[in-house]
Amino acid sequence: MQDKILSILKEIESFEILDKETFEQYKRNYTSKKGVIAVLFEELKSLDKSQKAVFGKSLNELKNKAEEKEKLYLEKFNHKEKSENQDITLNAVTQFYGSRHPIQITLNKIITIFSEMGFQIAEGPEIEDDWHNFSALNFPENHPARDMQDTFFLENPSFLLRTHTSSVQVRLMEKNELPIRAIMPGRVYRNEEITARSHCFFHQVEGLVIDKQVSYADLKQTLEWFVKKLFGENTKIRLRASYFPFTEISAEVDVSCFICGAKGCSVCKHSGWVEILGCGMVDPQVLLNCGIDPEIYSGYAFGLGIERIAMLIYKISDIRLMDQNDVRFLNQFQHFSLF
Ligand code: PHE
Repeated sequence: MQDKILSILKEIESFEILDKETFEQYKRNYTSKKGVIAVLFEELKSLDKSQKAVFGKSLNELKNKAEEKEKLYLEKFNHKEKSENQDITLNAVTQFYGSRHPIQITLNKIITIFSEMGFQIAEGPEIEDDWHNFSALNFPENHPARDMQDTFFLENPSFLLRTHTSSVQVRLMEKNELPIRAIMPGRVYRNEEITARSHCFFHQVEGLVIDKQVSYADLKQTLEWFVKKLFGENTKIRLRASYFPFTEISAEVDVSCFICGAKGCSVCKHSGWVEILGCGMVDPQVLLNCGIDPEIYSGYAFGLGIERIAMLIYKISDIRLMDQNDVRFLNQFQHFSLF
């Protein structure tokens, strides 16, 4: 009995299971109910008690070995079959990830910076009336901005698509909840030709601070802080005298060109400076128009174009890319953080 067990053990060890066929063969020979091991178990029955104990043990060991080999092959085979069933030449399922729009990324940056300075966010309607868009802001009756050429009027010409977010200034001041320290982002519309540099709609962020003793120095300081945060610590600002009907004094703000380090490039037209916003001290007449006493209160306002800033930061050369929803353009912003 012991010899038989040993020789079967050797056979099992040297048996090569190569494929399904040899596997079946193996089972038939060793582990099936009619296999040699089962036959030996039958023979065991006819042995006497003491022999049964000795051979029973080694026979059980043989049986375990045989089954182990069977199990091992099955595991290997299943794994192989799985990987063989996979077609590794198949195209991967493409995942389309969304991305934030450069206008939104830029706006988020602007909001973050002004929030840190204690500014609140306010909004107003895109369809405005003449009062909020023009009259309250001191636009004279014959001002060219009121012309059909510049402004989209609705069928009822008392209403129009706002041409700037300064209309939201008026709405805020009329509420008479002073002091005011707010930025007002939003879309604006102008009847302009659509080119690489101008569009009939774009986005602005308005800023307004009204309080006692607000000065031009406060305005300058706030803007300086803002541009350093947005474009980098080394950015300088330059205020050029300008004109807006609703501010007195008025200025346009240039920043030192952060693309070339003010050395001169195509973006700054080799001047070292790029214009980014308009600003000024709120005209006392505008305060009066909104029911605020200019003897007690003063304030400053500013307005910037988000597209312009986004185009500068991300070196976008054509404003029309902003609203074409071309994924080749948009996908480039996938990896920009929210800020
Ligand atoms: N509303 C002006 C524009 O659209 C910008 C501006 C806002 C200027 C606030 C001064 C103060 O050009």
